[in-house]
Amino acid sequence: MIKSLKLLVCLLLFVGCGNSQSNEKEKFSYERTKKDKKENVVVNHDNHDIKASVMVDLVNKGVGPIKEISFDNEINPQLVSSGEEIFSKMCSACHKVGKKFIGPKPNKIFDRRTPEWVMNMILNPEEMVNNDPIAKKLLVEFNGAPMANQNLTEDEARAVVEYFRTLN
Ligand code: HEC
Repeated sequence: MIKSLKLLVCLLLFVGCGNSQSNEKEKFSYERTKKDKKENVVVNHDNHDIKASVMVDLVNKGVGPIKEISFDNEINPQLVSSGEEIFSKMCSACHKVGKKFIGPKPNKIFDRRTPEWVMNMILNPEEMVNNDPIAKKLLVEFNGAPMANQNLTEDEARAVVEYFRTLN
């Protein structure tokens, strides 16, 4: 009887110990992922190993007339269709959906840029490629071909940006 009690206590201790070890392990790997994620959004514009076209910067709003815009949760289909039309007239000479062309592909752009940055890039590209750290790097990556100012109005640029939200 005593022997089997001892055994039970040993067993419980063992299980308890094993559990706490695996908990610690889980906590550790959780913290690691959190840290890794953070490292991805910390922007080092001087890192020459990351191309500007894939560099993630969800803080920088760029330079230009747009200081703050916010997206509705719902995508506005009317804006999307006028944006698509403007894009095919004014932008598709240099940008193709789904592949790099003279300029970068616009797909998933809001995974790497703020809406304000994209709007400013469309409305104020000259100042952006001169002063914005990412736009400057983009210019180099795209062999000195500058993003063209197509003289869109703010409303037209906003429509194009709504269309970009639909491009995965
Ligand atoms: C004459 C060619 C040309 C035209 C036309 C053009 N672009 Fe660009 N665009 C570029 C180039 C080249 C780059 C990248 C190099 C740079 O920024 O200088 C670029 C960059 C961009 C970027 C930044 C992309 C990124 O991944 O960060 C956006 C956004 C953009 N263009 C939107 C537009 C929109 C919207 C239009 C139409 C209104 C347009 N462009 C018309 C050549 C063009």
